[in-house]
Amino acid sequence: MNQRFAEAATVVEAIDKALGRPTPRNEVFAEVKAIQEFLEWAIGDQLVVHKGKLGNFDFAAAVSTGPTLFVGEGNMSFSLALAKLAPRAAQDFVVTTFEPRMRVSLAAYQNAVKLTRIGAKVLHGVDATRLDRYFNATRFSAIVFNFPNVASRIPVYGHNPNHNLIRRFLRNAAQRLARNGRVIITVVDTPFYSGAFGLTAAAKFAGYKEPDVYAFKPSHFSGYAHANTLGGQSALAKYRNFRSWVFQLP
Ligand SMILES: C[S@@+](CC[C@H](N)C(=O)[O-])C[C@H]1O[C@@H](n2cnc3c(N)ncnc32)[C@H](O)[C@@H]1O
Repeated sequence: MNQRFAEAATVVEAIDKALGRPTPRNEVFAEVKAIQEFLEWAIGDQLVVHKGKLGNFDFAAAVSTGPTLFVGEGNMSFSLALAKLAPRAAQDFVVTTFEPRMRVSLAAYQNAVKLTRIGAKVLHGVDATRLDRYFNATRFSAIVFNFPNVASRIPVYGHNPNHNLIRRFLRNAAQRLARNGRVIITVVDTPFYSGAFGLTAAAKFAGYKEPDVYAFKPSHFSGYAHANTLGGQSALAKYRNFRSWVFQLP
């Protein structure tokens, strides 16, 4: 190895040494992020972390076992697609967005109207880490969070912020689950996302059994138009492998 690189403690230091000047950190991180995203896109299939050996998770069956809570639903197209697959169950859906009512997109507003017409309850401004504030005595058979994302990579207490979101959500959701209820979290399956979410460790932290991991195919949900947290390019367009993680209490 080039001696200058061998002496550097970190990749960023190695880049500074190679260039002979300190590189602005935001430039380095933007570059590293771009390379990482390109690699995940280009060789995503080889980077698959969890094989989803159990096949696809049967969402329609899961939401038909009792009341279902959807959190962080963005434009609400996933819950609406599921309502079409399980029409009778839809009357027992509580569909929530993190965004307050005044800040939801037009698509979200239109989907909310459709969901309400078929009997689902729609709520806005619901924080998945503080479910106790909104649902006191209600217990859900399924609690669904598709593609959780706080849209920031700035560490909080040394962790990716999604790590904290997942742990707090799981711990909070445990209090809102009916007997034998399940929490289902769907994520992009790449090393970056797996590292950021740390779902196996999060399950243990929040008192769940080891989660089961299923394949997730967005195309199975007609009309599902995944929206990114800040309205950017959809992760569904950028990636090919997704997994639904299913958590149950002991
Ligand atoms: C990538 S989007 C996915 C939206 C939607 N679930 C879907 O699949 O299209 C991530 C969502 O997480 C929501 N979110 C972020 N932090 C949250 C929190 N603390 N509680 C609930 N939702 C949150 C964002 O508002 C955003 O809608």
